[in-house]
Amino acid sequence: MIYLDNAATTRIRQEVLGEMLPYFDQYYGNASAVYSLGAKSRYAIDQARDRAAALLSTRPERIFFTSGGSESDNWALIKIAEMLSHKGRHIITTQIEHPAVLNTARSLMERGFEVTFLPVDSEGFVSPEAVRDAIRDDTILVSVMTANNEIGTIEPVAEIGEVCHEAGVLFHTDAVQAFGQIPMAPDRMNIDLLSASAHKIYGPKGVGLLYIGPFASHIGALIHGGGQEKDKRSGTENVPGIVGFGKACELAAATIEKRMEAESALRDHLIGRILDEIEYSSLNGPSGDKRLPGNINISFKYIEAESLLILLDQNDIAASSGSACSAGSIEPSHVLLAIGRDEEEARESIRMTLSDKTTLEELDQTVEILKKNIDMLRSSNIFYQAAK
Ligand SMILES: Cc1ncc(COP(=O)(O)O)c(C=O)c1O
Repeated sequence: MIYLDNAATTRIRQEVLGEMLPYFDQYYGNASAVYSLGAKSRYAIDQARDRAAALLSTRPERIFFTSGGSESDNWALIKIAEMLSHKGRHIITTQIEHPAVLNTARSLMERGFEVTFLPVDSEGFVSPEAVRDAIRDDTILVSVMTANNEIGTIEPVAEIGEVCHEAGVLFHTDAVQAFGQIPMAPDRMNIDLLSASAHKIYGPKGVGLLYIGPFASHIGALIHGGGQEKDKRSGTENVPGIVGFGKACELAAATIEKRMEAESALRDHLIGRILDEIEYSSLNGPSGDKRLPGNINISFKYIEAESLLILLDQNDIAASSGSACSAGSIEPSHVLLAIGRDEEEARESIRMTLSDKTTLEELDQTVEILKKNIDMLRSSNIFYQAAK
């Protein structure tokens, strides 16, 4: 199988799984216990925290483990909003965020907060000037993703954070797609809160982190209970998951430069071949180093992405579309609409995302299969026939 959906999730790395397994059945102690079996778990969590902190070039005290990127996003937005509601009730985010941010922001609107959803340009960039213009006296939080999960746009988060700090506003970034893929150092990037997730970097599902910087350190807990994670995130720790996340962070830190270089080259090869060899195809999102190394998102005019994905699946290729199927209807991607694609173009787009195991041969094979199946779909499309 050719797996090209690594932005959705990655296959766990064998070394990661190997480090996790003993924590299910040998070192199963509760990390809060005083006996040595518990201490073993406590030590393993501390080590994972060190490894995650190293990947972010920060201190371990600033890392708090959660159940994943969604929880981290919910925690940052909801608890900062509550903490600062006496100062103001205005939050700024963007139109292209992941639903974990968008729907959390909408839930805050139902509670009387006001949210500005900033537009983006035709490549998906948020401008720091637009953030500056949107900040008001009652603005308490800005949340802009580090990199977009659909079109791979890498946002100028350090500049946006600077604008926020000049205005005395806290800055959160959803770095789920960027963490471990491009260098991130929140302490030096004007970032107060950063969300990340293990399963996008060859770690296990259901574990993530929230980085909490010094200006946000009074944030309250989202999950209350026995006081784990310094009373900021209760619940018996997911020790195997956290251990796996730590190992995935260590491996990511050791290989980041090499992976960026290799994946960018493969990405550009695939994009180049598709645009050259498949007529009526166009790239969504930026090209070059402002794009996530492993992200490709292309619109193929005169085809339905959903039909193409089924044909790719029949050829053992896993890719995805930006569309979300809800209540039986396929909604066009909010990200593609935000960059100015119309509904039809949004439904003609597919996303292919690479891993560090993706090979040139796999991508060349993918191009051939794309060509064959796109030809087939178009041959029965009357608009395509008319355009020819
Ligand atoms: C940008 C972004 N934010 C948040 C999430 C949610 O992360 P998790 O699956 O760990 O809850 C994802 C997952 O696809 C994502 O791509």
